[in-house]
Amino acid sequence: MKKVVIITGASSGIGYQTALFLNEKGYKVYGISTREFSSDKFTHISCDVTDTEKMSDIFKDIYEKEGSIYALINNAGIGISGAIEYAKREEIYRIFEVNVISVVNLSLKILPYLRESKGKIINISSVAGEIPIPFQACYSATKSAVENFSMALNNEIRPQKIKVCCVRPGDTKTNFTKNRIKTDVVNDIYGKRIVNSVKKMEKDEQKGTEPIKVSKLIYKCLKKKNPPLVCTVGTGYKFLCFLGKILHKKLVNYIVYKLY
Ligand SMILES: NC(=O)c1ccc[n+]([C@@H]2O[C@H](COP(=O)([O-])OP(=O)(O)OC[C@H]3O[C@@H](n4cnc5c(N)ncnc54)[C@H](OP(=O)(O)O)[C@@H]3O)[C@@H](O)[C@H]2O)c1
Repeated sequence: MKKVVIITGASSGIGYQTALFLNEKGYKVYGISTREFSSDKFTHISCDVTDTEKMSDIFKDIYEKEGSIYALINNAGIGISGAIEYAKREEIYRIFEVNVISVVNLSLKILPYLRESKGKIINISSVAGEIPIPFQACYSATKSAVENFSMALNNEIRPQKIKVCCVRPGDTKTNFTKNRIKTDVVNDIYGKRIVNSVKKMEKDEQKGTEPIKVSKLIYKCLKKKNPPLVCTVGTGYKFLCFLGKILHKKLVNYIVYKLY
Protein backbone atom coordinates (compact mmCIF):
# COMPACT_ATOMS: atom_id res chain seq x y z
CA MET A 1 0.00 0.00 0.00
CA LYS A 2 1.20 3.54 -0.80
CA LYS A 3 2.38 5.62 2.14
CA VAL A 4 0.24 8.73 2.64
CA VAL A 5 1.99 12.10 2.87
CA ILE A 6 0.30 15.44 3.53
CA ILE A 7 2.10 18.57 2.38
CA THR A 8 0.99 22.11 3.11
CA GLY A 9 1.62 24.90 0.62
CA ALA A 10 1.32 22.51 -2.32
CA SER A 11 -0.04 24.93 -4.90
CA SER A 12 3.30 26.56 -5.68
CA GLY A 13 7.10 26.40 -5.47
CA ILE A 14 8.75 23.87 -3.17
CA GLY A 15 5.44 22.35 -2.03
CA TYR A 16 4.11 21.84 -5.54
CA GLN A 17 7.38 20.38 -6.81
CA THR A 18 7.59 18.08 -3.79
CA ALA A 19 4.01 16.87 -4.24
CA LEU A 20 4.82 15.92 -7.86
CA PHE A 21 8.13 14.30 -6.92
CA LEU A 22 6.70 12.24 -4.05
CA ASN A 23 3.85 11.09 -6.28
CA GLU A 24 6.46 9.97 -8.81
CA LYS A 25 8.27 8.10 -6.01
CA GLY A 26 5.13 6.14 -5.16
CA TYR A 27 3.61 8.09 -2.26
CA LYS A 28 -0.06 8.95 -2.08
CA VAL A 29 0.07 12.75 -1.75
CA TYR A 30 -2.45 15.18 -0.29
CA GLY A 31 -1.62 18.84 -0.81
CA ILE A 32 -3.13 21.73 1.10
CA SER A 33 -3.11 25.45 0.32
CA THR A 34 -5.61 28.27 0.43
CA ARG A 35 -6.34 28.73 -3.26
CA GLU A 36 -8.59 26.52 -5.39
CA PHE A 37 -6.22 24.25 -7.25
CA SER A 38 -6.22 20.86 -8.87
CA SER A 39 -3.67 18.39 -10.17
CA ASP A 40 -3.95 14.94 -11.71
CA LYS A 41 -0.85 13.87 -9.74
CA PHE A 42 -2.09 14.50 -6.19
CA THR A 43 -5.23 15.39 -4.28
CA HIS A 44 -5.45 19.06 -3.40
CA ILE A 45 -7.65 20.40 -0.62
CA SER A 46 -8.19 24.14 -0.15
CA CYS A 47 -7.66 25.24 3.42
CA ASP A 48 -5.81 27.90 5.35
CA VAL A 49 -3.22 26.19 7.59
CA THR A 50 -4.15 28.57 10.41
CA ASP A 51 -7.68 27.10 10.51
CA THR A 52 -6.72 24.34 12.97
CA GLU A 53 -10.25 22.94 13.29
CA LYS A 54 -10.71 22.52 9.55
CA MET A 55 -7.19 21.10 9.22
CA SER A 56 -8.00 18.53 11.95
CA ASP A 57 -11.11 17.49 10.05
CA ILE A 58 -9.03 17.12 6.88
CA PHE A 59 -6.52 14.86 8.72
CA LYS A 60 -9.41 12.77 10.07
CA ASP A 61 -11.03 12.45 6.61
CA ILE A 62 -7.74 11.42 5.01
CA TYR A 63 -7.13 8.84 7.74
CA GLU A 64 -10.63 7.40 7.39
CA LYS A 65 -10.23 7.16 3.62
CA GLU A 66 -6.67 5.83 3.50
CA GLY A 67 -6.40 3.91 6.79
CA SER A 68 -3.03 5.45 7.65
CA ILE A 69 -1.03 8.70 7.46
CA TYR A 70 2.75 8.39 7.23
CA ALA A 71 3.98 11.99 7.19
CA LEU A 72 3.12 15.65 7.48
CA ILE A 73 5.32 18.17 5.68
CA ASN A 74 4.77 21.66 7.10
CA ASN A 75 5.87 23.71 4.11
CA ALA A 76 3.33 26.56 3.77
CA GLY A 77 4.99 29.85 4.57
CA ILE A 78 4.98 33.56 3.92
CA GLY A 79 7.57 36.35 4.10
CA ILE A 80 7.78 40.02 4.97
CA SER A 81 10.57 42.27 3.76
CA GLY A 82 11.50 45.81 4.69
CA ALA A 83 12.34 47.59 7.93
CA ILE A 84 10.44 45.80 10.67
CA GLU A 85 9.82 49.18 12.26
CA TYR A 86 7.31 49.87 9.48
CA ALA A 87 5.52 46.51 9.45
CA LYS A 88 1.86 46.58 10.42
CA ARG A 89 0.86 44.81 13.61
CA GLU A 90 -1.40 42.43 11.69
CA GLU A 91 1.41 41.56 9.25
CA ILE A 92 3.71 40.65 12.15
CA TYR A 93 1.02 38.51 13.79
CA ARG A 94 0.15 36.88 10.49
CA ILE A 95 3.69 35.73 9.68
CA PHE A 96 4.06 34.14 13.12
CA GLU A 97 0.60 32.57 12.78
CA VAL A 98 1.31 30.99 9.37
CA ASN A 99 5.01 30.14 9.81
CA VAL A 100 5.08 29.10 13.49
CA ILE A 101 1.71 28.69 15.23
CA SER A 102 0.26 26.58 12.42
CA VAL A 103 3.40 24.38 12.39
CA VAL A 104 2.94 23.83 16.14
CA ASN A 105 -0.81 23.20 15.95
CA LEU A 106 -0.68 20.89 12.93
CA SER A 107 2.26 18.93 14.34
CA LEU A 108 0.24 18.26 17.49
CA LYS A 109 -2.94 17.35 15.60
CA ILE A 110 -1.14 14.84 13.38
CA LEU A 111 0.58 13.00 16.28
CA PRO A 112 -2.15 10.41 16.98
CA TYR A 113 -1.96 9.25 13.35
CA LEU A 114 1.84 9.19 13.24
CA ARG A 115 1.96 7.25 16.51
CA GLU A 116 0.19 4.46 14.68
CA SER A 117 2.32 4.61 11.51
CA LYS A 118 5.61 5.45 13.31
CA GLY A 119 5.77 8.28 10.85
CA LYS A 120 7.46 11.63 10.36
CA ILE A 121 6.98 15.37 10.57
CA ILE A 122 9.16 17.38 8.22
CA ASN A 123 9.20 21.12 8.81
CA ILE A 124 10.57 23.49 6.19
CA SER A 125 12.77 26.06 7.89
CA SER A 126 15.35 28.32 6.21
CA VAL A 127 19.02 29.28 6.23
CA ALA A 128 17.66 32.63 7.53
CA GLY A 129 16.70 30.78 10.72
CA GLU A 130 20.39 30.05 11.36
CA ILE A 131 21.83 33.29 9.95
CA PRO A 132 19.21 36.02 10.45
CA ILE A 133 18.82 38.53 7.62
CA PRO A 134 18.16 42.24 8.19
CA PHE A 135 14.94 43.53 6.62
CA GLN A 136 13.57 40.01 7.05
CA ALA A 137 13.70 40.08 10.85
CA CYS A 138 10.35 38.45 11.58
CA TYR A 139 10.78 35.88 8.83
CA SER A 140 14.19 34.89 10.23
CA ALA A 141 12.71 34.69 13.74
CA THR A 142 9.86 32.42 12.58
CA LYS A 143 12.25 29.99 10.95
CA SER A 144 14.56 29.70 13.95
CA ALA A 145 11.44 29.15 16.09
CA VAL A 146 10.44 26.28 13.78
CA GLU A 147 13.85 24.64 14.20
CA ASN A 148 13.86 24.96 18.00
CA PHE A 149 10.30 23.67 18.24
CA SER A 150 11.15 20.72 15.99
CA MET A 151 14.20 19.75 18.05
CA ALA A 152 12.30 19.87 21.34
CA LEU A 153 9.30 18.00 19.94
CA ASN A 154 11.60 15.36 18.48
CA ASN A 155 12.89 14.61 21.98
CA GLU A 156 9.42 14.65 23.56
CA ILE A 157 8.14 12.00 21.18
CA ARG A 158 11.36 10.07 20.61
CA PRO A 159 10.20 6.98 22.58
CA GLN A 160 7.07 6.85 20.42
CA LYS A 161 9.19 6.26 17.29
CA ILE A 162 7.93 9.37 15.52
CA LYS A 163 10.67 11.43 13.88
CA VAL A 164 10.72 15.21 13.48
CA CYS A 165 13.18 16.91 11.19
CA CYS A 166 13.74 20.22 9.44
CA VAL A 167 14.73 20.76 5.86
CA ARG A 168 16.46 24.12 5.57
CA PRO A 169 16.54 25.65 2.06
CA GLY A 170 18.61 28.66 1.05
CA ASP A 171 17.61 30.90 -1.86
CA THR A 172 15.18 28.97 -4.03
CA LYS A 173 13.55 30.12 -7.25
CA THR A 174 9.82 30.18 -6.45
CA ASN A 175 6.87 32.57 -6.20
CA PHE A 176 7.94 33.36 -2.63
CA THR A 177 9.74 36.49 -3.90
CA LYS A 178 6.62 37.80 -5.64
CA ASN A 179 4.26 36.79 -2.79
CA ARG A 180 6.29 38.41 -0.01
CA ILE A 181 4.62 41.25 1.91
CA LYS A 182 6.64 44.49 1.68
CA THR A 183 6.44 46.94 4.55
CA ASP A 184 5.76 50.56 3.65
CA VAL A 185 8.77 52.82 3.77
CA VAL A 186 7.40 55.86 5.54
CA ASN A 187 10.52 58.01 5.58
CA ASP A 188 14.17 57.85 4.63
CA ILE A 189 15.81 57.21 8.02
CA TYR A 190 17.24 53.98 6.58
CA GLY A 191 18.44 55.72 3.41
CA LYS A 192 18.69 53.36 0.43
CA ARG A 193 19.48 50.36 2.66
CA ILE A 194 15.95 48.92 2.58
CA VAL A 195 15.58 49.15 -1.20
CA ASN A 196 19.09 47.83 -1.86
CA SER A 197 18.84 44.95 0.62
CA VAL A 198 15.42 43.84 -0.61
CA LYS A 199 16.61 44.08 -4.21
CA LYS A 200 19.63 41.89 -3.35
CA MET A 201 17.57 39.23 -1.56
CA GLU A 202 15.06 39.12 -4.41
CA LYS A 203 17.82 38.81 -7.01
CA ASP A 204 19.52 36.04 -4.98
CA GLU A 205 16.25 34.12 -4.75
CA GLN A 206 15.50 34.38 -8.44
CA LYS A 207 19.04 33.20 -9.21
CA GLY A 208 18.65 30.53 -6.52
CA THR A 209 18.38 26.78 -6.68
CA GLU A 210 15.47 24.98 -8.35
CA PRO A 211 12.80 23.69 -5.92
CA ILE A 212 13.39 20.09 -7.05
CA LYS A 213 16.66 20.12 -5.10
CA VAL A 214 14.67 20.76 -1.91
CA SER A 215 12.14 18.07 -2.87
CA LYS A 216 14.92 15.50 -3.25
CA LEU A 217 16.20 16.24 0.25
CA ILE A 218 12.67 16.01 1.68
CA TYR A 219 12.33 12.63 -0.03
CA LYS A 220 15.66 11.48 1.47
CA CYS A 221 14.41 12.46 4.95
CA LEU A 222 11.14 10.61 4.39
CA LYS A 223 12.97 7.44 3.40
CA LYS A 224 15.64 7.46 6.11
CA LYS A 225 14.92 5.50 9.27
CA ASN A 226 16.80 8.11 11.27
CA PRO A 227 16.77 11.38 9.36
CA PRO A 228 19.01 14.22 10.56
CA LEU A 229 17.42 16.80 12.86
CA VAL A 230 18.18 19.62 10.44
CA CYS A 231 19.44 19.24 6.90
CA THR A 232 20.51 22.20 4.82
CA VAL A 233 19.97 22.21 1.07
CA GLY A 234 23.20 22.55 -0.99
CA THR A 235 26.90 22.37 -0.11
CA GLY A 236 27.39 26.16 -0.16
CA TYR A 237 24.60 26.78 2.36
CA LYS A 238 25.76 23.82 4.48
CA PHE A 239 29.19 25.47 4.72
CA LEU A 240 27.64 28.89 5.47
CA CYS A 241 25.55 27.44 8.31
CA PHE A 242 28.63 25.64 9.64
CA LEU A 243 30.54 28.96 9.70
CA GLY A 244 27.51 30.58 11.34
CA LYS A 245 27.78 28.03 14.13
CA ILE A 246 31.53 28.10 14.77
CA LEU A 247 32.31 31.81 14.30
CA HIS A 248 31.59 34.43 16.90
CA LYS A 249 27.98 35.62 16.53
CA LYS A 250 29.08 39.27 16.51
CA LEU A 251 31.40 38.63 13.58
CA VAL A 252 28.75 36.66 11.66
CA ASN A 253 26.23 39.45 12.20
CA TYR A 254 28.72 42.08 11.05
CA ILE A 255 29.45 40.15 7.84
CA VAL A 256 25.69 39.90 7.20
CA TYR A 257 25.40 43.67 7.81
CA LYS A 258 28.10 44.31 5.22
CA LEU A 259 26.35 42.03 2.72
CA TYR A 260 22.95 43.74 3.13
N1 LIG B 1 11.95 30.35 -1.82
C1 LIG B 1 12.95 30.47 -0.99
O1 LIG B 1 13.99 31.09 -1.29
C2 LIG B 1 12.88 29.81 0.38
C3 LIG B 1 14.05 29.73 1.15
C4 LIG B 1 14.00 29.13 2.41
C5 LIG B 1 12.81 28.62 2.88
N2 LIG B 1 11.67 28.70 2.12
C6 LIG B 1 10.43 28.15 2.69
O2 LIG B 1 9.88 27.20 1.82
C7 LIG B 1 8.47 27.12 2.03
C8 LIG B 1 7.76 27.15 0.68
O3 LIG B 1 7.98 28.40 0.07
P1 LIG B 1 8.11 28.59 -1.52
O4 LIG B 1 9.43 29.20 -1.76
O5 LIG B 1 7.73 27.37 -2.25
O6 LIG B 1 7.03 29.78 -1.72
P2 LIG B 1 5.71 29.91 -2.61
O7 LIG B 1 5.99 29.54 -4.03
O8 LIG B 1 5.20 31.29 -2.34
O9 LIG B 1 4.73 28.83 -1.98
C9 LIG B 1 4.14 29.00 -0.72
C10 LIG B 1 3.00 28.01 -0.57
O10 LIG B 1 2.42 28.19 0.74
C11 LIG B 1 1.01 28.30 0.59
N3 LIG B 1 0.45 29.09 1.68
C12 LIG B 1 0.82 30.33 2.10
N4 LIG B 1 0.07 30.72 3.15
C13 LIG B 1 -0.77 29.69 3.40
C14 LIG B 1 -1.80 29.48 4.35
N5 LIG B 1 -2.10 30.40 5.28
N6 LIG B 1 -2.47 28.30 4.34
C15 LIG B 1 -2.19 27.36 3.41
N7 LIG B 1 -1.24 27.50 2.49
C16 LIG B 1 -0.55 28.66 2.47
C17 LIG B 1 0.82 28.96 -0.79
O11 LIG B 1 -0.43 28.64 -1.35
P3 LIG B 1 -1.72 29.60 -1.41
O12 LIG B 1 -1.23 30.93 -1.83
O13 LIG B 1 -2.61 28.91 -2.35
O14 LIG B 1 -2.23 29.55 -0.02
C18 LIG B 1 1.90 28.24 -1.58
O15 LIG B 1 1.42 27.00 -2.03
C19 LIG B 1 8.11 28.28 2.95
O16 LIG B 1 7.95 27.81 4.26
C20 LIG B 1 9.34 29.19 2.85
O17 LIG B 1 9.52 29.95 4.04
C21 LIG B 1 11.69 29.28 0.87
